[in-house]
Amino acid sequence: MTGGKRPTGHQPSVPVALPSFDDAEVRLVAEVIRSGWVTQGPKVAAFETQFADYVGAKEAVAVTSATTALFLVLHARGIGPGDEVIVPSLSYIATANAVVHVGATPVFVDVDPATFNIDPERIEEAITPRTKAILPVDQLGMPADMDRIVEIAKRRGLFVLEDAACAAGSRYKGEPVGARADAACFSFHPRKVIVTGEGGMITTNDEELANKLRLLRHQGMSVSDLERHKADRMITEEYPVIGYNFRLSDVHAAIGIVQLGKLEEFLAKRRAIAARYEAALGDLETVELPQPPPEVDHNYQSYIVRLRAGGRDERDAVLEELRRHGVSSRRGLMAIHRESCYRDARLGGSLENTEAATDQTLLLPIYADLTPEDQDYVVQRFRSALDAALVQRDANSRRAID
Ligand SMILES: Cc1ncc(COP(=O)(O)O)c(C=O)c1O
Repeated sequence: MTGGKRPTGHQPSVPVALPSFDDAEVRLVAEVIRSGWVTQGPKVAAFETQFADYVGAKEAVAVTSATTALFLVLHARGIGPGDEVIVPSLSYIATANAVVHVGATPVFVDVDPATFNIDPERIEEAITPRTKAILPVDQLGMPADMDRIVEIAKRRGLFVLEDAACAAGSRYKGEPVGARADAACFSFHPRKVIVTGEGGMITTNDEELANKLRLLRHQGMSVSDLERHKADRMITEEYPVIGYNFRLSDVHAAIGIVQLGKLEEFLAKRRAIAARYEAALGDLETVELPQPPPEVDHNYQSYIVRLRAGGRDERDAVLEELRRHGVSSRRGLMAIHRESCYRDARLGGSLENTEAATDQTLLLPIYADLTPEDQDYVVQRFRSALDAALVQRDANSRRAID
């Protein structure tokens, strides 16, 4: 077997995303199971060291997901009720949920329409005396403009927490994402570039913060299981703070170690697929393809396209037509402030770029093992779905005029 097997059941013939596993993951997981040590232990420690080395950060702390990672960092920094955190509304809902979970208020700020990343100009306008942190998102793997964001944060005395859930392997100004912000959080969910099933990682250069995170993820326990196991004497742990159970298991970490070893291969394959989409769809004037700025190396966690001509109706018609033909696709990005659970959300200015982006974008399938044949099929179906949606739109507008 090479690459991930498609799950069985009623699947579309081309999924939007697919993990890439082979026997190497199976072998290391089997080793963990045979060892008897399946919770957070030596494999988690090894995964953390390797991940920190990869991104060039001093510390990496593994947890159960990017959501718990974001929550834990905000909590460890003492951010809570009465505090505001600046976030893009155009993201996955987990970004804002983590802020709400610590009792703070997310303040939604608009994005740059070219990159879909938070617009640094708009950040300054949204800062109030209650603002404690900026939480930029590397949208679908496209790194946010961290130098400008960090500069604002330093000047205004704010903490920067980078939501790098989708950005493993992406580079900003030549360096891997994960070491520029005060802390960065990654996800290993199956839609991501490195997959462990569920899982997350926090990277930081702040040793004190990392130690606090390690304490908090393990019920506030002063000694880890691994340290106790290795000790040559009896150790009784203490609980100086009230913590959580956000431990990643060694089973998940074993998968992560193997996946991290394949990251460069995954990136090369994803970039080649993105280049093929660019070549196959670049002539379409009604469609805008991703254009990473020169200072960015994109990991293409997703491949987002914007329908220039049309709005939500046309985009949804394209999604439905693709679905009917066995091509799995998704709307591009959600606008969190439009969800009913965020209807009373604080808006940090106009969100017009966010609203346009969420209505006009969709994701085309991309994953390391996407074959050229399947990709050609996606291109063919996308072109015909787009034509049909635009013909329908023109017919509707003629009818409206008549
Ligand atoms: C931008 C962003 N932040 C956070 C998350 C949450 O990640 P997890 O599922 O690991 O909690 C996701 C997941 O898709 C995401 O896309």
